[in-house]
Amino acid sequence: MTDPRTGGIAVLDFGSQYTQLIARRVREQGVYAEVFAHDAPPERINAHHPRGYILSGGPNSIYEPGAPQLPEWMLPLSRRERGLGGEGILGICYGMQALTHALGGKVAPSAAREYGPAQINTQSSSALFDGLPAELDVWMSHGDRIEQPPPGFVGLAQSDHSPYAAMGDPARKLYGVQFHPEVVHTPRGADLLRNFLFNVCGCDAKWSSASFIDEAVESIRARVGSERVLLALSGGVDSAVAGALLNRAIGPQLTCVFVNTGMLRLGEPEQVVQVFKGEQGMNLIALDATEDFLSALVGVTEPERKRKIIGEKFIRAFEAQARHLHDDGVKFLAQGTIYPDVIESAGSSKVSKTIKSHHNVGGLPADLGFELIEPLRDLFKDEVRRVGEALGLPESIVWRQPFPGPGLAVRCLGEITWERLETLRAADAIFTGELGAAGLLRNGTAQAFAVLLPVKSVGVMGDNRTYEEVIALRAVTTDDFMTADWARLPYDLLARVSNRIVNEVRGVNRVTYDVTSKPPGTIEWE
Ligand code: XMP
Repeated sequence: MTDPRTGGIAVLDFGSQYTQLIARRVREQGVYAEVFAHDAPPERINAHHPRGYILSGGPNSIYEPGAPQLPEWMLPLSRRERGLGGEGILGICYGMQALTHALGGKVAPSAAREYGPAQINTQSSSALFDGLPAELDVWMSHGDRIEQPPPGFVGLAQSDHSPYAAMGDPARKLYGVQFHPEVVHTPRGADLLRNFLFNVCGCDAKWSSASFIDEAVESIRARVGSERVLLALSGGVDSAVAGALLNRAIGPQLTCVFVNTGMLRLGEPEQVVQVFKGEQGMNLIALDATEDFLSALVGVTEPERKRKIIGEKFIRAFEAQARHLHDDGVKFLAQGTIYPDVIESAGSSKVSKTIKSHHNVGGLPADLGFELIEPLRDLFKDEVRRVGEALGLPESIVWRQPFPGPGLAVRCLGEITWERLETLRAADAIFTGELGAAGLLRNGTAQAFAVLLPVKSVGVMGDNRTYEEVIALRAVTTDDFMTADWARLPYDLLARVSNRIVNEVRGVNRVTYDVTSKPPGTIEWE
């Protein structure tokens, strides 16, 4: 069987915020794409024999000292001399300027910078604009522009401020566009990318959930042989799909461990057992460590301390089980690592300030002597979900919203007790249940949940004064979880949720809705 990753596209990152998006857009066309730092070794970039290269945009000016340059090996002649493949090159924005600079053209600051929507006019027919109208709406974001294309290139399109909004050298299959075909604000961008993939590079559309699963099953079997594999199931999408994939590949040789921390949502531990043991028929060891976690958290209110305690406890609980299984002969440890976790980019060396110590529960013990296996390493999140669907996992797992590792501990503000967790679980189930019924969990909100506040408020129920807990509802829209806006939920829905919570959840007499965007707020309250 041929590897569906061969003959795809290598995306070279010059520091654009859209680099991953380029790879996702290519994969949406059924062609595998991988992201590399622009200066990664050519052997690595060419390991899967790409048929084309896309050069991303970037924040620099090509003529400034130290600006990242087109690697010398990418020039068509050097590629041929070195026996490296690749049919075409498409430079996007800075990528186009890097191509121009390397091949002897001229890039200069533009008198009028173009940011935002613009219109281009195509000047001549070309493989890149095949089937597209002469006038196109595009998204621009640049201060420099091409003054003189390199020898051999012709202008393919212009805008008011860019005489070379697109250029090409069809004989050498080299193209550049000043605008961003990968963003949604370039409505026909997908058509242009499709032209590059199929008309210029001659790629085959062979990247799909089915081809991925076939190849992954085969390579897992080849690697694992008759050995046994251990996987920590969290209930989240990534470990669930990794589990289902491994189960398909090696079935009885897989053992999954699920730790109930007591910080999970209503019905979650039961669902994990039902889906993975019941429906998928996996070997599942479900540990209930609730008491252990709760006693470690007595009196703890500081968010980072909660995270630290839970992270450590989780690792210890898992480790004890893992050690036992390792002694019993289990050789591999599987993890649900996905592509955005491993992707290398020009900006990856930048150290960002720690606002919250995220992903602290992901760090599993490295010293146990397992060999690591990461079957989803090459997939973006949306691809993981599609693979999960193809493997028969239920929608409630495949399309579930992200849930933080420390779970309800960071949504139960102040002290964590079993009673307060139960109050929070009940309120959260009402909120998410109503959102689900209104179709707003899968579309309309990226993350929605209840938070139990560390204050009490006065209310009146019947003729009596009450002094009880307060629930805050949080629902946000976001693409990347780096920035977010509060979801404009229908008032009627909020009214129904509020009413149900104060009536059905004992000990709560007030419900508020959080209308803070991120920044300045974060999505979670702790
Ligand atoms: P914030 O609150 O920083 O959250 O806006 C951004 C995303 O990260 C999730 N989150 C966490 N995930 N461990 C995790 O695994 C954590 O400690 C943690 N804290 C926040 C949050 O749910 C959102 O999706």
